[in-house]
Amino acid sequence: MRFVCSIADFRGWRAHARRPLGFVPTMGALHEGHGRLIDEARAASASVAVSIFVNPIQFNQSEDFARYPRPLEADLAFCAERGVDVVFVPPLEQMYPQPQATFVEVGGVADHMEGQFRPGHFRGVATVVLKLFQIVQPDRAYFGEKDAQQLAVIRRMVQDLNLTVEIAGVPTVREPDGLALSSRNRHLNAEERAIAPRLYQALRAAQQSIAAGETAAEAVKRAARDVLAAEPRMRVEYLEIAGDAEMQPVESVAAPVCVAAAVWVGRTRLIDNVRCQPPVRPENSAVQS
Ligand code: PAJ
Repeated sequence: MRFVCSIADFRGWRAHARRPLGFVPTMGALHEGHGRLIDEARAASASVAVSIFVNPIQFNQSEDFARYPRPLEADLAFCAERGVDVVFVPPLEQMYPQPQATFVEVGGVADHMEGQFRPGHFRGVATVVLKLFQIVQPDRAYFGEKDAQQLAVIRRMVQDLNLTVEIAGVPTVREPDGLALSSRNRHLNAEERAIAPRLYQALRAAQQSIAAGETAAEAVKRAARDVLAAEPRMRVEYLEIAGDAEMQPVESVAAPVCVAAAVWVGRTRLIDNVRCQPPVRPENSAVQS
């Protein structure tokens, strides 16, 4: 496995890389969620590149950026074990040699939920992902459904800017108790860790409500909120139901939707989402057959 720290060296490696090239962009502190992306890339590609770059322009608070974990040696070992061909770890001064003046602003899909509560976040994500695509020039890039809105933003950017990279979405990897794996979970103390799975339980309650035929978004959200309200140490930032591709809040559930939430447990912010499909009604199936 190659470990490359400069853009020029990466381009040198890229010139001779076997194709198709699969790419997994990350901010490091790698866990089994990232591992799943790498495994899918490995299975479908002749070469696999992973980038590790904690991107300052997507953080709202410099504190969050500063305390983001950076266990580089463990990350490199993780990538080597999973058969990655090259790990690209560009230094900050190469990615942003001067203050960035050009940004990618994805409208609509980035407006609500994370976009509303983390202003500028998706602008920072879309901008760095486009920069990474320009350097890595992958045939396919892998993103987790854990960050469903991010995945939708990237898909939209690729469509709108006529990029040729193919985007693959990968299902969320969870702990046995349902908590979605996240680099931020390591900030949870034992008490907070015990509370954290309630977020997924709430999303499951929404999913079950939709599966049982509820179509009013407010009623579905209530089912989830009831689960969250029973835990006063969990503070809800948002709980929303949005169309799967365009990520606009809906009032009624008629097509596949994403039920997404952000909560605070102590000083740690957790996000998660589930995709839900309304049940096929008997009269619809009669029409279809
Ligand atoms: P990061 O949080 O490191 O996540 C890298 C990729 O791993 C993302 O596509 C994310 O959705 C995926 N991922 C994280 N946890 C997962 C889980 N439990 N199951 C499945 N996939 C999971 O997302 C970013 O970095 C950054 O915004 C980035 C795209 C690299 C741009 O800076």
